Amino acid sequence: MNILILGSGGREHTFAWKISQSSLCNQIYIAPGNAGTQQHGTNVAINPMDFEAVKKLTIDKNINLVLVGPEAPLVAGIYDFFKKDADLQDIPVIGPSAKGAQLEGSKAFSKAFMAKRNIPTAGYREFTQATIQEGLAYINQQTPPIVLKADGLAAGKGVLILNDVEEAKMEFSAMLDGKFGAASEKVVIEDFLDGIEFSVFVLTDGKDYKVLPIAKDYKRIGEADTGLNTGGMGAISPVPFVDEVLMQKVTQRIIIPTVKGIAADELDYKGFVFIGLIKVGDEPYVIEYNCRMGDPETEVVLPRLENDLLELLVALAEGKLNEIDIKISEKAATTIMLVSGGYPETYEKGKVITGFNKVTDSILFHAGTKQAGDDIVTNGGRVLAITSYGDDFKSALAISNKNANLIEFDKKNYRTDIGFDL
Ligand code: AMP
Ligand code: GLY
Repeated sequence: MNILILGSGGREHTFAWKISQSSLCNQIYIAPGNAGTQQHGTNVAINPMDFEAVKKLTIDKNINLVLVGPEAPLVAGIYDFFKKDADLQDIPVIGPSAKGAQLEGSKAFSKAFMAKRNIPTAGYREFTQATIQEGLAYINQQTPPIVLKADGLAAGKGVLILNDVEEAKMEFSAMLDGKFGAASEKVVIEDFLDGIEFSVFVLTDGKDYKVLPIAKDYKRIGEADTGLNTGGMGAISPVPFVDEVLMQKVTQRIIIPTVKGIAADELDYKGFVFIGLIKVGDEPYVIEYNCRMGDPETEVVLPRLENDLLELLVALAEGKLNEIDIKISEKAATTIMLVSGGYPETYEKGKVITGFNKVTDSILFHAGTKQAGDDIVTNGGRVLAITSYGDDFKSALAISNKNANLIEFDKKNYRTDIGFDL
């Protein structure tokens, strides 16, 4: 089979690495890819949001399956674009329809979806410019922290957690005034949940489902979870506190009603559901849904998956997911993200990366890198994910830390304390 992977991060490099191990795999194309993905296939310099260019590539390269990494093309309807086109409609796209992607693309949609099925999540209200006064009055009645969420996609920046009522009112008004453009024309105000987060990844065809390894990512830039939020500075899998009792609750109260809800609402969903969860006391609540895999969670989830990923995706596309048994390694995996100094605010690109050949015992997944002549240079905030295995996440972390020290680029930054709170 010829596979097209859309995206350019560590998640997509991990997809390419895993699919290249499949006996079903012939050629892999990655659009646009990075310096790591080209180890497993051919990078093609097109933007995944340019559906006509994706179509041309799919036809020219005789693609048999498209795996969509990031959320933006899904929310914009790449699945539907394929289904409506006579030349493309038989080529499976892994990822939901635009309607299904609303689980991530609209907080109001996902909150209503959960409310309808009593899926445990924070209580909430939604407001627009027309109901701004009610919103301000609502905030006045709250005890901080106050959680404000832009309804739409805001590049991971649309959630604000504020410790002061007056500041929350200012931010709320600014959001409705267009702080995040159209994404914050509607704002959801949620109850604050105090607990510890983890992530569950479900593959579903809207009928059956399979649960992939559980993970936890570390989003803050600073050690001990301090400083600004990032896309993710590291991750571990499995998560020690997620035991069978907790997973039973997650399955019964969250996963099964979610898959049933997808079917009942006819969301046309053949892809990943990333369920961001928080454990409050002993009970799980949904923080958010995403319609794709996580990054850097993919860099620890797929290394622990022993199945042939392509076989799994083909079964998904053919509605035969129930014929597959998921096999998960007993080993733990930990990943550390090397980032550009300054990230998640401003940072420089184009720094030469050295030390690749000094790395032993880890897998390097490229995130923001590109080939520049004979050099590999930085090309984003998150640069390289260093994944290692171990008997537990701590022994895996020690190997990733050793190798994080051996890779060099100007203003390299990373966290050494992934899993510190466990
Ligand atoms: P998101 O950008 O949607 O991933 O949300 C960013 C982070 O905000 C989450 O990972 C949580 O740490 C936090 N968060 C979101 N909603 C809540 C909530 N209701 N209570 C507490 N923390 C939350
Ligand atoms: N690491 C969080 C995400 O992929 O959204």
